[in-house]
Amino acid sequence: MLITKEDIKSLDRIKRLNIINSITGIKPGNLIGTVSSNKVSNLAIFSSIIHLGSNPPLIGMITRPTDEVPRHTYTNILEQGFYTINHVPLEMTKSAHQTSAKYKEDISEFEACGFTEEYHGDFIAPYVKESKIKIGMKYVQSIPIEINGTILVIGEIQNIVISENIISEEGYIDLEHAKSVGISGLNSYYKLSLLDSYDYARVKP
Ligand SMILES: Cc1cc2nc3c(=O)[nH]c(=O)nc-3n(C[C@H](O)[C@H](O)[C@H](O)COP(=O)(O)O)c2cc1C
Repeated sequence: MLITKEDIKSLDRIKRLNIINSITGIKPGNLIGTVSSNKVSNLAIFSSIIHLGSNPPLIGMITRPTDEVPRHTYTNILEQGFYTINHVPLEMTKSAHQTSAKYKEDISEFEACGFTEEYHGDFIAPYVKESKIKIGMKYVQSIPIEINGTILVIGEIQNIVISENIISEEGYIDLEHAKSVGISGLNSYYKLSLLDSYDYARVKP
């Protein structure tokens, strides 16, 4: 089957969205925790989390256009400067999915969707208690992507909260044991199972 650019263009909007959102394969499943200036916590599922570099330790995420619909996560990040990235727990994919509903700004998705807020030290953004891997982030930069109005939001890692039994001496993280999940498109959730790990690849003599 060949799907051309013209076919894609003439597809029904939802079908196009489904195909294009799934075609790159598995994306990480994360919940972004923030707090508003009115002290209302906010939680939203994001699959566009990307590693940008280790030194300094930077993570990017794509937020959808902010002009038509209010984007509480992005507003809170800009206002407060801090946020958390929490792996979606395997047993809670349905609740995590529910955080994508358009709750009003005075409603916390933590409470509405059944997650528990957790705080560490004086870090102001809420972590997700049920998540096994959580990252405290400081906002550093936004890069507008003019072609479609989305924004690349860049943050620097401030803290990592992780159980010792899922991180090895060398720093490898066991995502299967952590019960993290993968996402395809906007509604399919996958379990992760480790296939194998390999040494640094070198050209064979
Ligand atoms: C599986 C899934 C992945 C999503 N990934 C993103 C994403 O990467 N970026 C984004 O802006 N919205 C994404 N969304 C939509 C947000 O979760 C949704 O717009 C949510 O209402 C945002 O909440 P907020 O207004 O509290 O920020 C995703 C939704 C689902 C169901």
